[in-house]
Amino acid sequence: MIIALNNKSNLDRNEFLTYQEGLRKLEANSTLIVCPTYLNVNLVNLNNIHHGAQNVSCTNNGAFTGEISAKDLKAAGVECCIIGHSERREYQRESLTEVHEKLLRLLENDITPILCIGETKAQRENNEVERVLKEELETAIEGLTDEQKNRLIVAYEPIWSIGTGIIPTIEEIEEVFRFIKTILPNTTILYGGSANEKNIDILKTSPLIEGYLLGGLSLKPVELQTFINKLENR
Ligand code: PGA
Repeated sequence: MIIALNNKSNLDRNEFLTYQEGLRKLEANSTLIVCPTYLNVNLVNLNNIHHGAQNVSCTNNGAFTGEISAKDLKAAGVECCIIGHSERREYQRESLTEVHEKLLRLLENDITPILCIGETKAQRENNEVERVLKEELETAIEGLTDEQKNRLIVAYEPIWSIGTGIIPTIEEIEEVFRFIKTILPNTTILYGGSANEKNIDILKTSPLIEGYLLGGLSLKPVELQTFINKLENR
């Protein structure tokens, strides 16, 4: 299992250093990845957890004020990077083309992309789930070789589930995972959206879920250990 921790825009320097001591104590068989803010990326110093990031520039180094390139992330030790998160697609107006460019920059720099896809509540109600996910996936992976596709991680995050405490049914999740596998048969797929130490008992009943992308829970190492214990039957 993969458990990716999306800190979002949380934890200043001192808060992160305290938090990191909590992460250091985590015991897990799963592969853990912490994705801190850009400023905290350089503070990561953990042996039990892989090093991630939440965003990357579409461009290589150059005259692009305020951007952080994939090369810079690589030099900072970053191994995995979230792209296409719905919050960036919505609040930063990140386009399908930009997500594709970011994915390419990461692959060029040997960083594993964690590509987030997901539908809104309205899209689900209008039976548009497959159309939306197909568009987000196919534009992101356009032109990739099979070898490159296999290096990706996809995170299915229904937007209506993120931060709301509501999770889809296992049937709804599995229907989407099977659909994603028709496009990316060998790619690891995570579930994200309000996954926590309470609902993990339900989520873990699905053999299709290969890991989790955690937002709110990522900030709470004690509850996170409970989540891991239940997931791994420890
Ligand atoms: P959440 O966020 O776990 O707080 O719902 C998940 C995410 O947005 O990656």
